[in-house]
Amino acid sequence: MNWGKENKMNRIFAKDGRTVMLAIDHGYFMGPVTGMENPAEATKKLIPHVDSLMLSPGILNSSIPTNFNGGVVLRSSGGSSISQPDITDELLTLEAKEAIKLNASAMAVSFYLGTKHEHQTIKALTKAINTASDFDLPVLAVTAVGKALEDKRELKFLSLASRIAAEFGADIVKTYYCDGFEKLINAVPKPVVVAGGPKLDSNRAVFELVYNSMQKGAAGVDLGRNVWKNNDPEIMIKIIKEIVHNNITPDQAEEMFRDLKK
Ligand code: R5P
Repeated sequence: MNWGKENKMNRIFAKDGRTVMLAIDHGYFMGPVTGMENPAEATKKLIPHVDSLMLSPGILNSSIPTNFNGGVVLRSSGGSSISQPDITDELLTLEAKEAIKLNASAMAVSFYLGTKHEHQTIKALTKAINTASDFDLPVLAVTAVGKALEDKRELKFLSLASRIAAEFGADIVKTYYCDGFEKLINAVPKPVVVAGGPKLDSNRAVFELVYNSMQKGAAGVDLGRNVWKNNDPEIMIKIIKEIVHNNITPDQAEEMFRDLKK
């Protein structure tokens, strides 16, 4: 890896090789989702606690202070929305040179294995990888499941998708946590970050998701709704940071939550 690419990766990942990435890109297909109606307002108190942000170019430009010096992972694929029954019809929406102009640390591209748009979205991913390479710009591949594939959050599917992303040259793979996650990590020779998915039932469940992901070899988490849909988003992000970087346990996380709530 040359200096330019390594420097971009180092903006995403802290010195311990781990990242707390906050995902706020949901508006690219969900519009003003609850909790993220006003991105500038919703992220103001969270940004100081994150290593990196995953977001779309318009929200970066409009809502994030230009003195933010963490990693910027730019949503670079899209093309359908929740107004359609099928949200998998995606293509590349951002050129690598535009991402570079925005001082991005990486492009993020989703691909939808097992859907009728598998081929098209793999093509978008590989195009991003090939063009980003001209600028030594890393690419984060999102192993997207979409609504129709919600039941695919299991080892066989997620390790198939994650390994394929790594084979094509993605620098970072974003996937879901699943039973047997350590086997996925063993089969994917790239840093893997874990997405959260819809809001979980309890804070404890979020702490366990983050803790188990890190213990089984994830390089970080890329959570969205389980942070900013929470009634205490700032407390949640502070605790997630402690789990990711200091290995605090779910019990300790609960204790920290109680202390910070006081
Ligand atoms: C997928 O790439 C989405 O746009 C989100 O970035 C991803 O789902 C992570 O957010 P959440 O933790 O809310 O699922």
